Amino acid sequence: MNLLHARVPAGTADTAPMVAARVDLLSSGAYRPLADALAKVASEHVQDGLIIDAGAGTGYYLAHVLDAVPAAYGLALDVSAVALRRAARAHARAGAAVWNLWEPWPVAGSSASLILNVFAPRNAAQFHRVLTADGLLVVATPNPGHLRELGDLVISVDGAKDARLEETLGERFARVDRLEVTQRVTLSAAQIRQVVEMGPSAHHLHRDGRRERLDAITGPADVTTSFGVALYRPVP
Ligand SMILES: C[S@@+](CC[C@H](N)C(=O)[O-])C[C@H]1O[C@@H](n2cnc3c(N)ncnc32)[C@H](O)[C@@H]1O
Repeated sequence: MNLLHARVPAGTADTAPMVAARVDLLSSGAYRPLADALAKVASEHVQDGLIIDAGAGTGYYLAHVLDAVPAAYGLALDVSAVALRRAARAHARAGAAVWNLWEPWPVAGSSASLILNVFAPRNAAQFHRVLTADGLLVVATPNPGHLRELGDLVISVDGAKDARLEETLGERFARVDRLEVTQRVTLSAAQIRQVVEMGPSAHHLHRDGRRERLDAITGPADVTTSFGVALYRPVP
């Protein structure tokens, strides 16, 4: 469902090549530990109701979470119509709507038992309006050191990211827990290309010979993937 022919600045929505790279990388299982961690958190805290994935991309994480909470149904929101076409087919209990997260969401207040936000924009006011009073907000972010072996081929995560997350959510939310999901994985040359091309680093490949250096990688490499999963309750 495209509720909006979204007017957002160029470069906001994931493009078709980014989505294609993300589909391939995620289907390889490289980020499966994060999906498992999110599914476990959801199954421990939520029995049913609406689960919204804000900035859902292809719906990969939402589908894993819905598998873990069989009585819940899901809604994927994302401004990328290309990604949302995937998300609409990601799970039998999920719908999908193209939407700009910075606009008031097309969802009733106090309607969601869980909001999932994985590497996507965070609209604290809408999170707070849409969550039930006892709902849970789950925010996944990359940690400093994530993909560090790839150097400047990926945008590095600065040490202040977690503090900025706290600042963004401000007084509307209280953090109740934080998990770390860190592992070493061996990525093939194709997967290294996908991991670079599926995110914002794709926009910087024309600089400093990065495209040439990426293309010169022909063998596998061991890399670190590291994510934080922070859990929040709304403050009344
Ligand atoms: C790094 S991707 C993460 C996608 C998904 N959560 C995942 O991890 O596979 C960020 C997503 O946020 C979406 N996005 C960026 N700005 C947005 C906005 N203002 N409103 C809705 N979605 C937005 C992009 O289209 C993209 O799908």
